[in-house]
Amino acid sequence: MANINLANAQKARNDEFFTQYFDIQKEIAAYLELNPDVFRGKTILLPCDDPEWSNFTKFFAQNFQRFGLKKFISTSYAENSKNYKSGYLPTLFETDDPQFDENKTMINGKIFILDHDKSGDGKIDVEDLEWHYLKGDGDFRSKEIKKLRDEADIIITNPPFSLFREFLAWIMEAEKQFLIIGNMNAITYKEVFPLLKENKVWLGNNYKVNGGAMFFEIPEEIANLDQVREIKINEKGKRVYITRVQGVRWFTNLEHGRLHQPLPLMTESDIIKFVTKKPFEKYDNYKAIEVSLVKNIPSDYEGVMGVPVSFLDKYNPDQFEIVGSDYNVKQGLLPELVNPKWKGKIDRGYINNKRIYTRILIKHKRGAK
Ligand SMILES: C[S@@+](CC[C@H](N)C(=O)[O-])C[C@H]1O[C@@H](n2cnc3c(N)ncnc32)[C@H](O)[C@@H]1O
Repeated sequence: MANINLANAQKARNDEFFTQYFDIQKEIAAYLELNPDVFRGKTILLPCDDPEWSNFTKFFAQNFQRFGLKKFISTSYAENSKNYKSGYLPTLFETDDPQFDENKTMINGKIFILDHDKSGDGKIDVEDLEWHYLKGDGDFRSKEIKKLRDEADIIITNPPFSLFREFLAWIMEAEKQFLIIGNMNAITYKEVFPLLKENKVWLGNNYKVNGGAMFFEIPEEIANLDQVREIKINEKGKRVYITRVQGVRWFTNLEHGRLHQPLPLMTESDIIKFVTKKPFEKYDNYKAIEVSLVKNIPSDYEGVMGVPVSFLDKYNPDQFEIVGSDYNVKQGLLPELVNPKWKGKIDRGYINNKRIYTRILIKHKRGAK
């Protein structure tokens, strides 16, 4: 196996991939660049976290004042409720605190709150974090965490990969702003694609997509040694492996600058003349052309074009309209795109009877070239 991929991670229900500080910092910078006040006066919730160790908690605590936050809350999931058991030991941070409880530490989640200068040193930072045990285990689906969700303006986390659909639906039902990490495959999920098509959700800035991978801190027991870039000893004294995970993206509904940058494109005739040396192929079954590389989207083609899902890394909603997906054709949602003479399957695009990879169907927005 070339990579630990998220599909396998889901199968194994390994949801313990920890985001690196650098990746959080780089992604957040893109939103601040467009709007320096994006977090000002806001309450941020970081659910599905591990606040004592999480780089999300560290990052937002360190930048609390700079971002002008009103409040941030992070919550963790109880050790006994996790699918993956890691030989958990409570930290000194917890055991040294008078409220430490050896039963609760296993069966209750924790909540960390930062909203005022508790230490009285004139600044609000990590030193001012207050914590207590949650009543329940910190499951994001619980009433207790839903209440925190409803209080928040923005939800930011790397949710458990196996519960991505549910997690996104949980955010959307409360109509919150969000920034979360997920698997690229989620783009085509029937619960996710309609949101992307309607521009209710889009991909994040995803600085340095790294050939489609991100590096995470992964506990020793589930690391794929072929992919280990670095071994670190974390604050718990445990070895953690920095491992490449394939096909990871930030998903969001927060504005960032890349979203408004037009993709530079060549005309159809120039692409044929200088790049592909052959005309664009038409699908046997769809009234659309196949564009297998995003950079070869012709600037002057007015019809529907089938492009790889990686198109969404470059998608600018002012430049393109997402017409649908091959799955939408199969669902019967795009009858006008089906070639009436075609007698075969419509599950995917076919060219010369050969089934093509999954495609998003797009066209230029009228007036934009
Ligand atoms: C992919 S990890 C990411 C942790 C952290 N947000 C980070 O990026 O560093 C997901 C976390 O969610 C926790 N988790 C799993 N199922 C959960 C649930 N139903 N509700 C809340 N948290 C859950 C896992 O135990 C794990 O700590």
